[in-house]
Amino acid sequence: MERMLVRSFAKINWMLRVLGRREDGYHDLETIFQSISLHDDLLIEESDAPAFSTDDRSLPLDDRNLAVRAAQVMVDEFRVNPVTIRLTKRIPVGGGLGGGSSNAAAVLLAVNKLYSLDISSRRLRAIALSLGSDVPFFLEAGTAHASGRGEVLTALPFVGRIPLLLVIPEAPVSTAAAFTQLDLLRNRAGVPETVAAAGVSWLSSLERLPAGDSSLTNDLEAAAFSLMPPLKLLFDRLQTQGAGWCHMTGSGSTLVAAFASTEERDAARDSFGDVRTAIAETISREQALE
Ligand code: C5P
Repeated sequence: MERMLVRSFAKINWMLRVLGRREDGYHDLETIFQSISLHDDLLIEESDAPAFSTDDRSLPLDDRNLAVRAAQVMVDEFRVNPVTIRLTKRIPVGGGLGGGSSNAAAVLLAVNKLYSLDISSRRLRAIALSLGSDVPFFLEAGTAHASGRGEVLTALPFVGRIPLLLVIPEAPVSTAAAFTQLDLLRNRAGVPETVAAAGVSWLSSLERLPAGDSSLTNDLEAAAFSLMPPLKLLFDRLQTQGAGWCHMTGSGSTLVAAFASTEERDAARDSFGDVRTAIAETISREQALE
């Protein structure tokens, strides 16, 4: 029987603006996604019965797991044989690094290939979005501007290989809780809904990386910091490490710092011996979808 070994890469967000709340309960947003080298491995094999296993005991093995749900959707929609999935997990769970979404997209692409389904990219994107807001990005990967729920994607040029330090707190932040908290903070402060920034050249902001650019910020930071005050202390600490750009990724709780050199990045990591960290680099679309 056919089998495939695929890598499933994490993402960070160079910026994330939360706009208004929509009728369907989601928020419109504007973000720039970036694939990074940190990845999980998936072994996907044709089989007679569906099965899922992983080395990470914290993960659900049923359809609460996005990779399991992705496989189910493919079997249901295209009437193909089931698959067994073996997941080796390295991307922290609940960290805002898109691990579950990336795994789901990897399953969609692998099943499409395994069974030569030749699914149109439009249909694949719709299936991806039905699984989660971030899943469509992982079909494209690389560097991309996104709007809507995160599914209206425009590819951006690769930013080059930028050394990153990830600081990964023990406690995760729930995505739904972060969005709700942001609404609460904005209501309390009487802040009007953010509108999409007109005429901002994200391209020139990205060109200034990793020296940093003040327009590349994350609206969900304030929400996560108020839900988890120790995260703000960690963030303040990370900001003193000489990184050109330093922000929370997605809805947190992972903090990311971009450095001008691997030496500076590694020195910063050494001063975070008391916290879980990981090092990574930005990767291109070609590398992410190899
Ligand atoms: O789509 P996903 O399942 O990743 O979203 C998790 C939760 O995060 C949603 O149920 C919603 O509460 C919130 N969310 C949102 N707007 C988005 C994405 C997520 O409000 N664009």
